[in-house]
Order: sequence, then C-alpha cells, then structure tokens
Amino acid sequence: MDPIFFIFVLMATLIIAANLLAIYWFGGMLIPIFHGGAPYIPSTQEKAITMISMAKISPTDHVVDMGSGDGILLIEAIKVGAKSATGYELHPGLIKRSIRKINKLGFSKKIEILKESFWDADLKNTDVVLLYQTSPAMNKLKLKLKNELKPGSRIVSNAFNFPNWKPVQEKSGIYLYIV
Ligand SMILES: C[S@@+](CC[C@H](N)C(=O)[O-])C[C@H]1O[C@@H](n2cnc3c(N)ncnc32)[C@H](O)[C@@H]1O
Repeated sequence: MDPIFFIFVLMATLIIAANLLAIYWFGGMLIPIFHGGAPYIPSTQEKAITMISMAKISPTDHVVDMGSGDGILLIEAIKVGAKSATGYELHPGLIKRSIRKINKLGFSKKIEILKESFWDADLKNTDVVLLYQTSPAMNKLKLKLKNELKPGSRIVSNAFNFPNWKPVQEKSGIYLYIV
C-alpha cells in the first residue's frame, strides 16, 4: 500500500473514532438534562469530604446519591463506614466509570449503581441523601424527599439549597437538612 494513502486512512480512522467518542460522551450529557437533572460537573474531592463529614454517617446508614456521576460521593461514604450506598445515574459513560472505580476499591458488595432516573428512586430505607443538582430540580426534589424520607434522615446538597427550607448547617456552599 502507498505509505501516503496508509497515513491518510489511519488519520481518517482516528478522527472518526475521536468524533464517535465525543458524541458518546457529550451526547450522554444530554440524557440527564432531558430527565430534569444537572449535567455532569463533579464534586471536588475536598467538597466530597466536607459533604460526607456533614452527613455524620453511622455504620447503619444507607446512603443515596441522586445523580452519582463517577461515584465520588458514594465511595467517600463507604470509606467513612456507611453500611451501603446506591447511586442513580443516567449517563452510560459515567455508570461504567463509577463501576470500574468501585470494583477497583473492592466496594462492589456495598455500592450499587442503578441506571434509573432519581425521580423514580425508592427512598424508604434511606438515611442519607446526597445531592449536586440544579435550582429547578431542587424545587421538585424538596417535595419528593419530604414525602418519602423517614424523619431524621439527612440531606446534604452541594452548591444548591432548597427554597423555603432552612438548612441546619451551611459550610463552604454545602447545605445540611434534617427531615
Ligand atoms: C452535578 S453532577 C454531580 C455528580 C456527583 N454527584 C458528584 O457530586 O460529583 C449531576 C449528576 O446527576 C446526573 N443526573 C442528572 N439528572 C439525573 C436523573 N434524572 N437521574 C439520574 N441521574 C441524573 C448527571 O448525569 C450527573 O452525573
């Protein structure tokens, strides 16, 4: 084969592969937006640690992250001793990435990632809810959380607060609520 032609085919293949990857990743970002949630912006490690410390997790707690991204909050929750954790996530690339991280840390028996919208989450056995969503989503989530969580459950939200609900604690833009 002509070496110039070979380089041309190779370059074209790489460009097509890069475009497909971009469509997969950024296209996946649109799925949660159409389901009334925030696009993927990860919590920093520092924010994740602050959120988990504000939740005051105990060894009997079941923790839920409504939009779990790459699993950072669930992993921190298990590291500090939560009994179990569930993440709801719709972006296929993030689901794969979080499962890879969870398996690598040996937490697969304690953390499950559900490819379901958090609007359908069953929260009756949940002690701690973690959030990093948008203002419009917070507005709607307030009703769901107040109706479904048991009294005493904690909710920790990164960056966004609930309208007309006073947090019991606020630290570095993170809000703690107790139902
Ligand atoms: C701002 S990111 C936060 C990710 C992670 N919780 C963190 O703190 O790093 C919001 C996440 O919610 C997910 N999401 C948005 N709407 C959702 C829905 N209806 N159901 C499940 N996940 C959703 C997005 O895919 C995204 O990963």
